Amino acid sequence: MSYEMKPLTCNPGALSGLSEKIIVSHYENNYGGAVKRLNAIEQELAELDWATAPVFVVNGLKREELIASNSMILHELYFDSLGASPASAGLLAQLQQDFGGMAQWAAQFAAMGKAQGGGSGWVLLAWSARDNKLINTWASDHTCNLAGATPILALDMYEHSYHMDFGAKAAAYVEAFMNNLNLAAASSKLAALKGA
Ligand SMILES: [Fe+2]
Repeated sequence: MSYEMKPLTCNPGALSGLSEKIIVSHYENNYGGAVKRLNAIEQELAELDWATAPVFVVNGLKREELIASNSMILHELYFDSLGASPASAGLLAQLQQDFGGMAQWAAQFAAMGKAQGGGSGWVLLAWSARDNKLINTWASDHTCNLAGATPILALDMYEHSYHMDFGAKAAAYVEAFMNNLNLAAASSKLAALKGA
């Protein structure tokens, strides 16, 4: 089976403070690149002789498969996270319970993004099934995820997400991202995860 790019879910021309050019470039080059890379890796894996392959080939291909898979999945969530819309009552109640309110959650999430400025990684709002709670999780690359948790909102802090619009001003990018949160999409994802 080969992976295909999902259509861009946000309207790139309708975001506040984020240019259409950077969103389209991010979608085509970085997300598209991950999907292409994943398909090339899957092809190599399909042709591998597992009985004789050197361990560094097995390790390398499976590591790269994980990186490309998570890059694809997290980028899909990132574009899904853009497009200002309100949170449901269910998401608001969960944020109140786990963070003390929407403002407190947003302050923590934005601070985590700004703290990654100059580096790279992801900030994820994830539902932890183990503890039945939402948690903001830190990721220094595509493979850092809390075991058993499912991200419902993703902030990409790789430089390609902001440099074209903001130069090195990562904090300004984080502010723009926070002004475009698609909280309706996050609300639906949370409801599905909770079986509500
Ligand atoms: Fe990205």
